[in-house]
Amino acid sequence: MKDQDKPHTTHFGFKEVPWAEKQKKVAEVFSSVANKYDVMNDVMSFGIHRLWKRYTISMSKVRPGQKVLDLAGGTGDLAMKFAELVGKDGLVVLADINSEMLNEGRKRLEDKGYVSQIKYSQVNAESLPFPNNYFDCITIAFGLRNVTDKDQALREMYRVLKPGGQALILEFSHPILPIKPFYDTYSFHILPKMGKLIAQDEESYRYLAESIRKHPDQDTLKDMMKNAGFDEADYTNLTGGIVALHKGLKY
Ligand SMILES: C[S@@+](CC[C@H](N)C(=O)[O-])C[C@H]1O[C@@H](n2cnc3c(N)ncnc32)[C@H](O)[C@@H]1O
Repeated sequence: MKDQDKPHTTHFGFKEVPWAEKQKKVAEVFSSVANKYDVMNDVMSFGIHRLWKRYTISMSKVRPGQKVLDLAGGTGDLAMKFAELVGKDGLVVLADINSEMLNEGRKRLEDKGYVSQIKYSQVNAESLPFPNNYFDCITIAFGLRNVTDKDQALREMYRVLKPGGQALILEFSHPILPIKPFYDTYSFHILPKMGKLIAQDEESYRYLAESIRKHPDQDTLKDMMKNAGFDEADYTNLTGGIVALHKGLKY
């Protein structure tokens, strides 16, 4: 989007903030939680985020020798599995806008001995420093929600994806089951308290709950993918739509 066409404000959780400020506020959230991010993920999802990620990996059909971009990859849960799948002849780029999150990912991956097939890139998903038609698979897990210009990020993902490749977007979505009272109590009351107790940060986990509610629903995101150029887009609801995995193809 050209600067003059950008709206003046956007949402940061339930707050309306100047468009140019959202990125800084998101950065503050992830810098604050980076060293507690993995333990918080396990606690607040009761470990279920591992199953959502395992499903994403199984849908990726990544093979030895391929190139994979894990965008907003943070501490590298997906990148680590992709490093095993692509092997020494492949490439995994763990990309994130936030240096603290990226450093946590780098430490974990180096500890596991993944060196030759992994590269790290500090990038904004809205402007990817990669050539056209480069990656066989692109993933963005729990990242798109935080990006200010989501349409631009989707266009960039489409641009750097190879024809025949696929993009997978794993993200919180809109539950299709009648769980609203429980889900709201958990998200707005229990989750921020857990954040306070474990990560000494209540506000960041309040943002998490609010940003989930502001994220486009399943069909809206599917349409956004088609508008960004994806030749086919579809989704699968996981855990009753609390999370959805969107898949986009480039012919
Ligand atoms: C909730 S974490 C997800 C990390 C990892 N993908 C996972 O599933 O565990 C969201 C990540 O998105 C990154 N992020 C936020 N805005 C971004 C942007 N515009 N471009 C790239 N990464 C971004 C944050 O720094 C953070 O590491």
